Amino acid sequence: MDNPDMTPAPQSWSPQSWRHKEIRQQPVYDDPASLERVLNSVRSLPPLVHQGEVDTLREQLVLAGRGDAFILQGGDCAERFEDCTREAIESKLKIILQMSLVLTWGARIPVVRIGRMAGQYAKPRSSDTEMINGTALPTFRGDIVNGIEPTLAARRADPNRLAQAYFYSAATLNNVRALLDGGFADLHHPQHWDLGFVRSVTSRAEYEGMLDRMLDSLNFVESTGVRGSAAFRTVEFYASHEGLLLPYEEAMTVEVGKHWYNLGAHMLWIGERTRQLNGAHVEYFRGIENPVGIKVGPSISAAELVELIRAIEPANREGRVMLITRLGASAAGNRLPELIAATREHQLNVVWACDPMHGNTITTESGYKTRRFDSIREELRQTFEAHHKSGSHLSGVHFELTGADVTECVGGPQELSEADLPRSYETYCDPRLNYGQSLEMAFLLAQKLQQRRQVPNAK
Ligand code: PEP
Ligand code: CO
Repeated sequence: MDNPDMTPAPQSWSPQSWRHKEIRQQPVYDDPASLERVLNSVRSLPPLVHQGEVDTLREQLVLAGRGDAFILQGGDCAERFEDCTREAIESKLKIILQMSLVLTWGARIPVVRIGRMAGQYAKPRSSDTEMINGTALPTFRGDIVNGIEPTLAARRADPNRLAQAYFYSAATLNNVRALLDGGFADLHHPQHWDLGFVRSVTSRAEYEGMLDRMLDSLNFVESTGVRGSAAFRTVEFYASHEGLLLPYEEAMTVEVGKHWYNLGAHMLWIGERTRQLNGAHVEYFRGIENPVGIKVGPSISAAELVELIRAIEPANREGRVMLITRLGASAAGNRLPELIAATREHQLNVVWACDPMHGNTITTESGYKTRRFDSIREELRQTFEAHHKSGSHLSGVHFELTGADVTECVGGPQELSEADLPRSYETYCDPRLNYGQSLEMAFLLAQKLQQRRQVPNAK
């Protein structure tokens, strides 16, 4: 299929064409009429983002793909409606902005900030039902679908939740925009930074040194007269979520000129469980202008990856496809080189990012789903190395994190152990890095990016 003349012309696309394909991971609604009613009401509501912002993000991903910018994507595994509060949004935004400052300083290139926020309400599940106290209940599929409470009534797929998800997304995004416009991004004062959680004296001294140097450079730039300028206080921030629940995504899809945009988020990704080549999700995503992430797990073959990229982006435009590898520390080093080689051989324009969380999930003996900070770090190390050796480069990272002091992942600067997990285990879904673990991860990444600047690629 290397000869473009032999590639069959894609079938015509519409925001509904996915409905003719096999689909996975969708709830069953017992009242289709009210589902259609809610979808129609969502369709008539104003977009959450503007197509110009989507285009700008794509331009920034072009830069990232070329190695001239670095992407930081992060947020909860599953956002919850009840967490749409001032405190939760501020703390998440703060940690993402702080991480991005640390990364900018380390990499000396702009950081593109993308929140897993303002719409991350739908979750894929490994099973349709779960047994609770001897009763089989439908699984919780995220607040956009059903309630987490273990009762049949709560677990019913409720179409009204689609409209609620729209409004919670709008409230979250509105708050993020207000915070950024109002100067919340002004984090160059030491009192906004807390390194008190770092137990190791050597690491603490090292991070304090890095922070001092970073804040010093910021203050120097300020002293040159940039103080108070919008460039300093406001930053761009993009919203993203997994595009799982296709009826909702369809309702957020708008024709602009000759193009279709999903204006419910700037960027969306296809999860590892819904990326079947002939499936409904790939069909939907090939038709929109937004940058599209593809989660790439260890089961994918190089040939399948190539076909998937071509299906989503037949024109091979830069900045449109972001491959988010989540191979796990046990497979990243072995599998990545062949995947990178395949995209290079076929000259496919992709932006490589790494999600070092989802391939490293384990369950403790006492039943807690957790991730080891060291495994996350190790997958990143292998990923940087594989790209470096292949003459490619890692353009971004994707984390599940929160600004709160939760105890969901073990290890990190507070040296959390399995015994610490029950203390503040709050996630509805996967374990997240807490404030300290996220900040430490940023410092470690900044060191890696600094080294990378100093050692040119192998090819
Ligand atoms: C996720 O990002 O929360 C997720 C379910 O990831 P993946 O599709 O990579 O398993
Ligand atoms: Co997750």
